[in-house]
Amino acid sequence: KNPVIFDTDPGIDDAFSIHHALYHPEINLIGLTTVFGNVPVEIAAKNARILVEMAGQDIPVFKGAAGPLVAKHKGFPDFIHGADGFGDINLPDPKGSIEKTFAPQFIIDSVRKQPGEVTIIAVGPLTNLAMALRMDPGIAPLVKEVIIMGGTAKEYGNMSAVAEANIFNDPHAADIVFRADWPMVMAGLDVTHQVMLLRKDAEALAKTTPRIGGFLLNAADLYFRFYQGIFGIDGCYFHDPCATAYYVNPELFGTVAASVRVSCEGPAFGQTIIKPAGHPSPSTEWDGCRLHKICMQVDEKRVKEEVLGTIARYAD
Ligand code: BDR
Ligand code: CA
Repeated sequence: KNPVIFDTDPGIDDAFSIHHALYHPEINLIGLTTVFGNVPVEIAAKNARILVEMAGQDIPVFKGAAGPLVAKHKGFPDFIHGADGFGDINLPDPKGSIEKTFAPQFIIDSVRKQPGEVTIIAVGPLTNLAMALRMDPGIAPLVKEVIIMGGTAKEYGNMSAVAEANIFNDPHAADIVFRADWPMVMAGLDVTHQVMLLRKDAEALAKTTPRIGGFLLNAADLYFRFYQGIFGIDGCYFHDPCATAYYVNPELFGTVAASVRVSCEGPAFGQTIIKPAGHPSPSTEWDGCRLHKICMQVDEKRVKEEVLGTIARYAD
């Protein structure tokens, strides 16, 4: 099975996606790399380690970027994910420790060791990936695929009218990542806003697997209440799990081919700009930008079944 690096900022929806990846028999996770985003990077690394140990596994966890490359950091969303990243349920510290290697270095070493084999699934700000590319630009063509949760093509943003949070958190990094010579899949708000995890779905999971499902239900409570206040729905968007669902089952998504760049200034700060295949743009801004796959359609029911069903089947 091909090796997978999972880059993340856990985070409640990250936690569902990480457990999906940890338990899925077809996902060969070789490391979790962590980044600031939903929480400071120290907490992100600690949380990733907690999830690995919760699943009874020993996959290494690496700490990466503590803030954006260039832009000023705009703060942490503790009102959505809690100050602890898991809805303020204050779990005990993990037993094991975080690896000493810097996350971008781990990405470089893994890709160099298995050229053409490694897939990177990234569900936080893209700072670690951009740093890896800056430290060793030669890795790009050696990566099998980069699947991200982030950005938006046609849907409104969730940080501004046009910007999605992961891209908004570090637009300069995202622009580097989209311009690199590696094949990407963008699972952005166009699809994640079509996949809604309801409280009753999490409750059903908690019944089947009280330990893992019970933790996820507990962690998601704050997230559900946040959505209830804004949209009047007892549930939340199932953002990050769309990325792991794509990895194991790409047929659940409809994609279009496009190049992507990111706006780093003004009211469009953090916007993913989509240039579809064949668009006759004379602008040199797009020179060297390859085509990626942008997810536009999704089978909501089957994505939820894939993620929740995997956890229900394999978690104790
Ligand atoms: C993304 O932002 C984070 O808050 C979530 O974990 C997800 O990765 C959604 O915009
Ligand atoms: Ca995330």
